[in-house]
Amino acid sequence: MKSSYDVIIIGAGAAGLMCALTAGARKRSVLLLDHSKKTAEKIRISGGGRCNFTNIHCGPKNFLSQNPHFCKSALSQYTQFDFIEMVEKHGIKYHEKKLGQLFCDDSAQQIIDMLLSECSDGPVDYKNETTVEKIEEFEGRYKIESSCGHFEAKSLVIATGGLSIPKIGASKFGYDVARQFNLNIIQTRAGLVPLTFSGELLDRCKGLSGISVDANVSFDKTSFAEGLLFTHRGLSGPSILQISSYWHEGKEICIDLARGLDALGILKNKRTSHPKSSALGVIAEILPKRLAEDIALRVNLKGNIADQSDKMLGLIAGAIHDWRILPAGTEGYRTAEVTLGGVDVDYLSSKTMECKSHKGLYFIGEVVDVTGHLGGFNFQWAWSSGAVAGRNV
Ligand code: FDA
Repeated sequence: MKSSYDVIIIGAGAAGLMCALTAGARKRSVLLLDHSKKTAEKIRISGGGRCNFTNIHCGPKNFLSQNPHFCKSALSQYTQFDFIEMVEKHGIKYHEKKLGQLFCDDSAQQIIDMLLSECSDGPVDYKNETTVEKIEEFEGRYKIESSCGHFEAKSLVIATGGLSIPKIGASKFGYDVARQFNLNIIQTRAGLVPLTFSGELLDRCKGLSGISVDANVSFDKTSFAEGLLFTHRGLSGPSILQISSYWHEGKEICIDLARGLDALGILKNKRTSHPKSSALGVIAEILPKRLAEDIALRVNLKGNIADQSDKMLGLIAGAIHDWRILPAGTEGYRTAEVTLGGVDVDYLSSKTMECKSHKGLYFIGEVVDVTGHLGGFNFQWAWSSGAVAGRNV
């Protein structure tokens, strides 16, 4: 293996592979290094093994960052439709599951194979199980000491991802490199992660574990209308994962457990049309039975629907549509899909992903302070930022 390259990329995940294949297609010599044994584990386990590889509605509004405008350039230079074109070129069958989310029909492994196959079309050397021990910048070149030797290149791309799921290779490496070159790090925290509860709320979640509803979950001015799942630790499901990226500790979230229904109207109508129906039975027409029982217990409900005052019906409707609860925390990086925060985008060029203060140094993918919503947006950010860097290294 040679020791001098045009580009060294550290991290062979979604963004690193995309950058490698793009630079390779430009006949740039590329060395791609990763410390893991298996390639792109996060792609393999993503989307329940089918990889939600992009979203047809992807746009800047789907991302969180200290600077929400930063992602615009990369997303427009390499769009979801560019990635779909590559997927189609490789004959990978896919489908839209919901809300523009595209998944492989068969397996996420097809996406990994596609990216590796594109890399092998260019001068890309790939070394896994390699630890990078030292990085130095010297006379406009980046020198690297690693467990498989010394290498140097004019461009160095950091694509080591975020902190989520450490057991499959996540590390703080990218943030350390950023600090070494005096870049600011926006404080990191787990995103797209289940919320946990304590005390009585936890007991209730445990008792309702396994139940899912179509919910609307809000925090501050942000809300998500998607599924919600009760678990043994608290709450999960798409709406909760989405709001977790916005939620701040010590603050309440607000949940509508029966999105799109008018519980008060239904209860009042039933009181007139079926006065002898049990009040619990009427709630169970709106919500799953166990959840209806839980609400009946909370409001101390007894008797038929005809026995209930307007005040009681209002109380029930409030418990259904306006459930305000205080999460104790999140499940953390152990189960989070993404890491919020990261390399401060003020230090990077949005057009190229190159570091403004260090020519030839690039940061791409999740290590950067750009985090997508649930639904294929995080991979699209990895593809877009990776492709843009790959065109400039
Ligand atoms: P990524 O994590 O993919 O790659 C980083 C690479 O760097 C890894 O190969 C790692 O081994 C390597 N590395 C780390 N430290 C290193 C070091 N010190 N030295 C050398 N190499 C090092 N997104 C989406 O859009 N659709 C989806 O369906 C899903 N599903 C999903 C499921 C689960 C369970 C998780 C955890 C995450 C998702 N995501 C997702 C998020 C998505 O996987 C994530 O945003 C991208 O993989 C980020 O791509 P990167 O290339 O930046 O990091």
